[in-house]
Amino acid sequence: MPPDMDHTRAPVLEAMAEHRRLSRLDFTPPGHKQARGADPAVREVLGDAVFQGDVLASGALDDRRTRGHVLERAERLMADAVHAEHTFFSTCGSSLSVKAAMLSVAGPHEKLLVGRDAHKSVVSGLILSGIRPVWVEPRWDTERHLAHPPAAADYERSFDAHPDAKGALVTSPTPYGSCASLGTLAEICHRRSSPLIVDEAWGAHLPFHSRLPSWAMDAGADICVTSIHKMGSGLEQGSVFHLQGGLIDPALLASRADLLGTTSPSVLIYAGLDGWRRQMALHGSELLGRALDLAADVRAEIEKLDGLHVNDRTDFGGPALADDLDPLPVVIDVSGLDTTGYAAADWLRARRSVDVHLSDHRRISTQLTHGDDHDTTDVLLDALQALTRAVGALHPAPRVEVPSPDELRLEQVDLPRDSYFGPFIDVPWTDAAGRTVAEMLTPYPPGIPAALPGERLEEPVLRYLRSGVTAGMNVPDAADPRLDTVRVVRTEADAPLADPARRPHD
Ligand SMILES: Cc1ncc(COP(=O)(O)O)c(C=O)c1O
Repeated sequence: MPPDMDHTRAPVLEAMAEHRRLSRLDFTPPGHKQARGADPAVREVLGDAVFQGDVLASGALDDRRTRGHVLERAERLMADAVHAEHTFFSTCGSSLSVKAAMLSVAGPHEKLLVGRDAHKSVVSGLILSGIRPVWVEPRWDTERHLAHPPAAADYERSFDAHPDAKGALVTSPTPYGSCASLGTLAEICHRRSSPLIVDEAWGAHLPFHSRLPSWAMDAGADICVTSIHKMGSGLEQGSVFHLQGGLIDPALLASRADLLGTTSPSVLIYAGLDGWRRQMALHGSELLGRALDLAADVRAEIEKLDGLHVNDRTDFGGPALADDLDPLPVVIDVSGLDTTGYAAADWLRARRSVDVHLSDHRRISTQLTHGDDHDTTDVLLDALQALTRAVGALHPAPRVEVPSPDELRLEQVDLPRDSYFGPFIDVPWTDAAGRTVAEMLTPYPPGIPAALPGERLEEPVLRYLRSGVTAGMNVPDAADPRLDTVRVVRTEADAPLADPARRPHD
């Protein structure tokens, strides 16, 4: 092992400890000066360790020209641990990482193949960049009303129809844990010398256990993006993106990320990333093996509860649906209780102090990680058992008018960027069908826009969102989250604007 690939080391954490050991005095930001200037009431809640670790990345943790290569050494160790050639740390979540990846593959008006089950951060990337999406259809489970990643063959067909596409982006695993066939997809892309981007925000743990689905770098993807705070032990916002192969210049990728990133990265977040890599390199197999065994037990126990059903490989698998499944997001169908995921989630939080990850019209997902053990899952099982007996409190749950897959898909009639930045008008939702939407309408979580700028709205999607909001769906990015009105592209047929301040872009 080369000396700088010693996985017992953690360069960021070590530099942090050294900074503290030397009692270096920073006449620099952050202005709290190692907690001394922070409000005592804030110190009481956060603890001084947070402030003491919060120092400048260059000019404190490392010297002003980063001659200690602290971050670089930590990134190289991470790359080595996950079989990538280059790794970049980001403190702005995968929301930034995925945009950097997209911008390094395509530019304004160029085409990118994108699975339509993409997260809203990908759609934001399309809006900001002016990239033209060629949507690839997810595999729809018509019985369970759920989307799985598109089939590799569908990307192949899209490349055939759009040979000028610059590359492809796929989301795998989805927030529900279902995975694409990444090896086949990489092969399809590389036959055309096009790069494959994998939004693997939910896959931080995948490289570290053989019983987990295949990892994008091992499958041959060019770039993959991972949130270490989701399935890993990183702090919120801690994300990494990895690169391999010769299709994308690492300097260009770094430059694209630099366009979007902060000049004041949090070294606390860097430390979380560095520590996670060390933890996984040294103990990942054991910790994740235990988590997988625990998940198998928990899944079996939940399945015994009346009215609950855990979605497993039989539900999500098979050639028509997902290619693989991560069992750690435990997705529970609550429709047998004749209620919605929203009502179940609210009840569990209010009555049992248990927060679930995502909820939809018929499911909740309880995410397990290596951070869980029988103590935590016993509480969960107890709460779920109580939920099955609380049927009275869960009724009546307003019904969500869920469209068929065909009805759910809207036609992209304009570039997302043009519709978003052009003149707009807010119209009553009942008048919005047939109009081009000028905003994202995203049930969150999981964060996949039901409608996005440039798509033509149709009645079934509007009814889905409106009935969803009534039932407890969260649509936080809409200008009117209640969806009494919807923001659409202004046309000449609309009345002239009374307030010129609302015409920033025409
Ligand atoms: C598939 C997917 N990609 C990207 C993101 C953005 O990640 P982050 O929250 O780290 O910015 C998310 C967030 O939930 C996601 O689900």
